[in-house]
Amino acid sequence: MNTELDWGNLSFGYIPTDYNVRCHFRNGKWGEIEVSSSETVNLHIAATALHYGQEIFEGLKAFRGKDGKIRVFRLEENAKRIISSANGIKMQPVPVELFTEMVKKVVKLNERFVPPYGSGASLYIRPLEIGTSAQVGVKPSSEYLFLILVTPVGPYFKEGFRPTNICIMREFDRVAPKGTGRWKVGGNYAASLDAGEKAHSLGYSAVLYLDPKEKKYLDECGPANFFAIKDGKYITPASESILPSITNMSLQQLAKDMGIEVECRHITLDELDNIQEAAACGTAAVASPVAEIDDLDTGKKYVVAKDGNPGPVTTALYNKLRAIQLGEEEDIHGWNTIIE
Ligand SMILES: Cc1ncc(COP(=O)(O)O)c(C=O)c1O
Repeated sequence: MNTELDWGNLSFGYIPTDYNVRCHFRNGKWGEIEVSSSETVNLHIAATALHYGQEIFEGLKAFRGKDGKIRVFRLEENAKRIISSANGIKMQPVPVELFTEMVKKVVKLNERFVPPYGSGASLYIRPLEIGTSAQVGVKPSSEYLFLILVTPVGPYFKEGFRPTNICIMREFDRVAPKGTGRWKVGGNYAASLDAGEKAHSLGYSAVLYLDPKEKKYLDECGPANFFAIKDGKYITPASESILPSITNMSLQQLAKDMGIEVECRHITLDELDNIQEAAACGTAAVASPVAEIDDLDTGKKYVVAKDGNPGPVTTALYNKLRAIQLGEEEDIHGWNTIIE
């Protein structure tokens, strides 16, 4: 255990760890897994990652459980999603077995950076794939580097599990209607920076994007999916321009387990008048409750958390998912991978 870190006060930043793991795709095949203690990569100046954005990534977490064991949450789903992202922008997919082996290895090698149980902190795992071969024509690379770095991150809710305000701004789209939104492509995040900074400067925690084609339906909430509780049902947008969130998928399952009906469908803006709870969901926070949604174009404010507190369904789902991740409750769906 690393005793120098103040686990409870870590931010979502970057703290160096001991090792990262790497694997190169060259001459039509993936090579051996390399363990590195270097924090840099040596890249050709004409690499497709630098010029044409051939870059995809993932984000998942490892937790130290109540029993002291380290659990990685739903890593097979991240493995499948990065394959989908690779296919989406013509990169070489990383086989699920290779992804799994590398995640296990990098967590084990950096075991001393997995925060203690009860700190609220976790080890963030960031797999990354880039096109590395030299190319000046717009073409996919023939060589790739897949690497995984890890860094400890602090609890998302430092001031407690409190609702925050989010906003709608029609002047920005994150992605195109049939574009890259359903994949975890670096360029999507570059395209969201301007809107995100503007929202933060106005005091909002995130932007709630509308669908980029008609601006009629809800899409997602910055780097997180959106769900609402409406008349006892869990409703969440169906859209081909949002990232399929693994947290959202898990919360939907937990909602069903609790006897709550789940609807994954188009959600119109005016439905926000009739919801009882809302939250942004993703690996970073699990569920971040929404207090108010402000439409900055029309001036309309949708007040969700009328008493300023997180709603009961969001709270129950959040607690349940956290308890599974921390080994406090039985993992009935087999979501955790224990690192031995
Ligand atoms: C755009 C976007 N949507 C949704 C999510 C939430 O996905 P997950 O629950 O898999 O972390 C993320 C974060 O990964 C994201 O970047």
